[in-house]
Amino acid sequence: MMKTKMEEALSEIKRLFDVPVVRLRRLIAAFHDEMGRSLAGEPSSLQMLPTYTDNPTGHERGSFLALDLGGTNVRVLLVNLPGDGNAPTLIGDKFQLGREHITANGDVLFGAIARFVVGFLADHGLDGRYRMGFTFSFPIRQRSLARGELIAWTKGWTASGVVDQDVVERLNRALAKESAANVRVVSLNNDTTGTQTARAYLDPACDAACILGTGTNICYREMVANIRKPIGPYDHEAMILNMESGNFNAALPRNRYDKLLDDLSDNPGGQWEEKMVSGKYLGELARLVIVDICARGSLFGGRLPELFAVREGFGSERVCRIKEDADPDAAGVRALLADLGAGSVDVEEARAVREIAWIVSDRAARIAASALVATVTKNDPESTRSHAIAVDGSIYEKHPGFKMRMEETFGDLLGTRAGRIRLELTHDGSGLGAAIIAAIASGEGPVLRLPD
Ligand code: GLC
Repeated sequence: MMKTKMEEALSEIKRLFDVPVVRLRRLIAAFHDEMGRSLAGEPSSLQMLPTYTDNPTGHERGSFLALDLGGTNVRVLLVNLPGDGNAPTLIGDKFQLGREHITANGDVLFGAIARFVVGFLADHGLDGRYRMGFTFSFPIRQRSLARGELIAWTKGWTASGVVDQDVVERLNRALAKESAANVRVVSLNNDTTGTQTARAYLDPACDAACILGTGTNICYREMVANIRKPIGPYDHEAMILNMESGNFNAALPRNRYDKLLDDLSDNPGGQWEEKMVSGKYLGELARLVIVDICARGSLFGGRLPELFAVREGFGSERVCRIKEDADPDAAGVRALLADLGAGSVDVEEARAVREIAWIVSDRAARIAASALVATVTKNDPESTRSHAIAVDGSIYEKHPGFKMRMEETFGDLLGTRAGRIRLELTHDGSGLGAAIIAAIASGEGPVLRLPD
């Protein structure tokens, strides 16, 4: 039987987004090269940023505040670390930053965050003196646990006057201005590092962490002897390195939609892997595919429903909801699209939209899994050890089939040794980890001599 125009368009999309195992192996080899280059201080798309912290011992104890700034959701926590093998306890509140906070300037941004902390303390009647750990989910150039400068904004943030500034100092100043001088930020970490720390507090096999949310990134534990670029004084034999793997750009199977998405983005040329994998972009990729095949007359009779017309107007949570519909006639997708103002969409069209959602996110899962295989095989090339990887983020947690597709890819790449990699959902680890790192910085656990 002749293929319809729509079927032909979908076969082409499938082919463009397909990443066979040989391509993934090339990606892994390139990832290893980039890791090696960055460890040697040479130019690389991976940054391998020193964090000045190693996995915790699990004996860190005390009460610490934590501030988790990841996306526009900000969490403030008070964490109690028992240090005796039991799980930490915490209270926490969520606050919401607006677009005006993340796109104006540093004073507006840090002022808003400081007020969240003040509000949290007031709401819970907390009036003592507190040390706080700060999770800042962007690339930071650290020279010690207690300070670090923003290298560049990612994920669409643009607040001016923050790049190259010490974000701990900015936050301490903003807190003092809001009359919260009783709170002192003592440590800084990326969300990946926080997530690894939170998992490793109770699970010593954890040697890497991955965020698959609005952005994506991986950190892992590296022996200091393998870090050939200068890192200054540091007393432990291993350190967690924040790779900023969302910026990985070598041997990626990019297609014309990836290129278009990058060209239209706030940071063209940057974060290529993130743009293929993470929540800020999956919806947009699906949208660009839909716009294109519609323009070629292969979908919606060539008339694009308004909901697909706006850049970044079709979020990844919609991709997720579309995938959740398992009905053979895509009744759920039709209802959703109608709710979103697309009018009545026929069964074939709804199925096509669902197929696009799966195609785009299956590729994301395969690339994300390959980056993790590259991470663990860097120091364990034959996969002879077990690795627990702490994972957090809405894409991993909520997208139907994402974890399964990642594990399938481990199988494709590692065969029977795939079982050595354990993905462990570590909810809100970035907040909890910040408190543990604050304890480490305060000497409430392994003794760390800070370089300044
Ligand atoms: C972006 C940030 C990175 C962060 C990741 C996940 O890639 O640059 O620092 O870890 O998002 O939030």
